[in-house]
Amino acid sequence: MGKAAKFSTPLLCHSKLLCFSVLYLFSSLFLAVYFSFSTTKCIFRSSPYDPIQELLFSYPSSYGEHKYALPTTRSSCNSPVYFSDYWVALEEIRKLCSNFTPSALKYLQRTDESFGGNLSFYNRSSYFDHHDNETQIPCGFFKRFPISNSDQISMEKCHGLVVVSTIFNDHDKIRQPRGLGSKTLDYVCFFMFVDDATLNRLHFHNIISKKSKEFKIGAWKIVKVSSESLYENAAMNGIIPKYLIHRLFPNAKYSIWIDAKLQLVVDPVLLIHSLVVRENVDMAISRHPYFVHTMEEAMATARWKKWWDVNGLKIQMEAYCENGLEPWNSEKPYPTDVPDSALILRKHNVATNLFSCLLFNELEVFNPRDQLPFAYVRDKMNPKLNLNMFEVEVFEQVAVEYRHNLKKGGASVGPKLKKASSDLFGNGTLGKCKEYLLKMWGESHD
Ligand SMILES: *[C@@H]1O[C@H](CO)[C@@H](O)[C@H](O)[C@H]1NC(C)=O
Ligand SMILES: *[C@@H]1O[C@H](CO)[C@@H](O)[C@H](O)[C@H]1NC(C)=O
Ligand SMILES: *[C@@H]1O[C@H](CO)[C@@H](O)[C@H](O)[C@H]1NC(C)=O
Ligand SMILES: *[C@@H]1O[C@H](CO)[C@@H](O)[C@H](O)[C@H]1NC(C)=O
Repeated sequence: MGKAAKFSTPLLCHSKLLCFSVLYLFSSLFLAVYFSFSTTKCIFRSSPYDPIQELLFSYPSSYGEHKYALPTTRSSCNSPVYFSDYWVALEEIRKLCSNFTPSALKYLQRTDESFGGNLSFYNRSSYFDHHDNETQIPCGFFKRFPISNSDQISMEKCHGLVVVSTIFNDHDKIRQPRGLGSKTLDYVCFFMFVDDATLNRLHFHNIISKKSKEFKIGAWKIVKVSSESLYENAAMNGIIPKYLIHRLFPNAKYSIWIDAKLQLVVDPVLLIHSLVVRENVDMAISRHPYFVHTMEEAMATARWKKWWDVNGLKIQMEAYCENGLEPWNSEKPYPTDVPDSALILRKHNVATNLFSCLLFNELEVFNPRDQLPFAYVRDKMNPKLNLNMFEVEVFEQVAVEYRHNLKKGGASVGPKLKKASSDLFGNGTLGKCKEYLLKMWGESHD
């Protein structure tokens, strides 16, 4: 906005009054134009009249699909996103999907007590530098993912773009995507993974009948996961579809992961087309609204008790500090080290699939907070990931956020540990992250 102040004195300014009036007029005009363009929109559609689907599903009012949308505070942005014409985008995505060659990455087949093998640090590290497509990458599925055969078959039939979400432990409501183009449901598969607790609620509201073997609610195909045999922690189970999406949908070429607290309001074809294909990247993900350093996120995770095991967080961060995690700096080819991972758009290729496997392995050993190992894995892995980390304002305009279901007695993410200090480096020693922290503070105090 500094531009208005930089006008040099024009000839017009022979009369002071006229001059001020003209200046005033121009600045008001400038501000009006500025605000009407930038504060209302970060996304632009080539045609606002793209054919839009009718209402996908009507919920009984008792279910309250749309309760508690969270207001967004930001609305202006530096790099708005322009969406292509729906039919052009659809045609291009269809073409890209039709000459699909499966990713050359090979996966380790084994059986183990734990789904991901609970691999040692040394073992996990040995897969970061990938220079031989014959190497078998450990990538979960060391035991069966408990879904029905018919669901598995329909997942394998998804050949183009898949949109995936999960609701475990009845944590959220099923929300229908809005703004879908009229042909989108013919080309895009929507899969929602749920457990028994979530199914019970849907049954209770008469949204599904327990007798039927296959469930569909609006756009979403519902897949029941018998999660008792997986992880104890529901969030960890949610990590399986979120990060092993390329294994659950081995024939999908593109995917969009969306947390169930979000409702998609832009067509997934347009999203993949403008945020991934046109940007020529492997993956697109939103930036965190405030943090740029992993350690800021780790400290917030401890302080706001987003994960109960503070000592475990400390061990994790120290392992990363000791093995080369650096605070964010302008030499990194990415604008931040911290994503908001509620929406992830992927092209399923060697780099993205490898990244997803490596990240999953970290989460399985430490905790399901996926922002913590994000930069460590991204910066250490080879081949390098081509990432579009788009602005949070764009994120907020392509997806609307709602509150989670409230639970009686408060949602607990794990056993209560009395002794856990809520501050990551609360006892005065910075430990193995001393160098990281000094660099980070040095930078932010400049
Ligand atoms: C994973 O391995 C660590 C030791 O390497 C052990 O302490 C932990 O209990 C194991 N976790 C699981 C779920 O097996
Ligand atoms: C890593 O662990 C897996 C599973 O135990 C094992 O099959 C593999 O050989 C190990 N890899 C390395 C490099 O140690
Ligand atoms: C692995 O396969 C991909 C896709 O076929 C190819 O682009 C890449 O060069 C291969 N990488 C290595 C290290 O052979
Ligand atoms: C602080 O924590 C570190 C690492 O966990 C530990 O080694 C150290 O003994 C602790 N210091 C105090 C004063 O408790």
